[in-house]
Amino acid sequence: MLHLQIENLSKVGRLHGISKARFRSFCENKQPLVQKVFKLKAKPGYAFLALPDAEANLKNVKKYVKEQEKNGWKNIVVLGIGGSALGSIAVRDALRSEFSKGPKLYVLDNIDPAYTAELLSNLNLAKTLFVVISKSGTTTEPMIQYGLVKEMLAKKFPNNYQKHLVFVTDPKGGLLRKIAKAEKITAFDIPPKIGGRFSVLTNVGLLPCALAGMDVGGLLKGAQNMRDAIKRGKGMHNPALALAAAQFLLDKKKKKTMTVLMPYSNYLYRMGDWYRQLLAESIGKGRSAGPTPINALGTTDQHSQLQLYNDGPNNKFFIFMRLLKHAKNPKVGNVLPEEIGFLNGKKFSQVIDAAYQGTAQALTKRRHPNVTIEVPKVDAKAIGALFMLFEFQVALLGLLYKVDAFNQPGVEHSKQITKKILKGEEK
Ligand code: PA5
Repeated sequence: MLHLQIENLSKVGRLHGISKARFRSFCENKQPLVQKVFKLKAKPGYAFLALPDAEANLKNVKKYVKEQEKNGWKNIVVLGIGGSALGSIAVRDALRSEFSKGPKLYVLDNIDPAYTAELLSNLNLAKTLFVVISKSGTTTEPMIQYGLVKEMLAKKFPNNYQKHLVFVTDPKGGLLRKIAKAEKITAFDIPPKIGGRFSVLTNVGLLPCALAGMDVGGLLKGAQNMRDAIKRGKGMHNPALALAAAQFLLDKKKKKTMTVLMPYSNYLYRMGDWYRQLLAESIGKGRSAGPTPINALGTTDQHSQLQLYNDGPNNKFFIFMRLLKHAKNPKVGNVLPEEIGFLNGKKFSQVIDAAYQGTAQALTKRRHPNVTIEVPKVDAKAIGALFMLFEFQVALLGLLYKVDAFNQPGVEHSKQITKKILKGEEK
């Protein structure tokens, strides 16, 4: 199970941190918010809490994946953006690497003209399944991508291009649903009460990851376990409440207006992109709410960002992710010269962990508040647990900041103007 270490919140002193007593009493006072989130679980947005129990849906996904085996897909390509893409990327990069066997999972979450053309021209279309994902079914990026892909497929496979397409979209509304019906393309649902950035444990994340051979049942199990831990956890020992309380108090009372999420694992890095959207789109509202999320990777960014983090403005809250067991762990022999002889015989896990400790301690000594999420190992259960932890934390932040964590008027505004420009109605 994941574990949240919070002692450095008080170790940095009261000017920049939160004393144990204050933190304890704040968390105890806010405990009813945890129950409130559970009570709201049938409401739009909060419905993410029920997703780990959607067994019938999981069965459906597995059945479809089994049926697809006969096609021997080598490439699964997601066309989607934002909440329709970032979850799959986080799961893929956690559970797969460029060296993994099995179908490759590409997530085309941008409309860069050259990259789009390069990717599509390098795929063997006969061995490629495109998963078009859009809740609204009208977002410009996936729709133009779909248009291009549909044209290519229809040209190459005029009699059965549908075989190469599957949609994930709203059960009733939106253009994708309409196209699916008209062209007899298989379509999976996104529950109407779930918004994009909370949708990774719906078919949005489950379908492409299952098609690429990942353990999606494990994701749901991990999320269930975390949900139970959050339900049981009291006060500052509740991981979602403690994380939300720390972020809220540090932002509002200590001017830590930025949150750096820094895993010490390549496999957890893209979780940072997913969390960045979750936090920014959910809480960045009303001009006064919204810590700015920043991604960093340990140890890589120690050699890029750490100077600023240590000696620059004290306006950041750090969430480290420390991996306790690495899937593989090479050890260097006694081959290095005396000057760096302290590295001889060391396992890579020892070195990366020492670097994490060095960074956390240096930041603490310089009074930068930080917490650490200890992750036992990277597997589907741990990733599912992280999704649930952060989603619950952000739901709590919505209540603490008193903003609607589940809408995104700022995103919609830009989407509308873009459409007007493309229609020639606005310059
Ligand atoms: O979280 C959100 O709601 C957004 O980021 C959406 O996921 C994103 O804009 C894509 O929308 P859609 O899935 O409707 O194409």
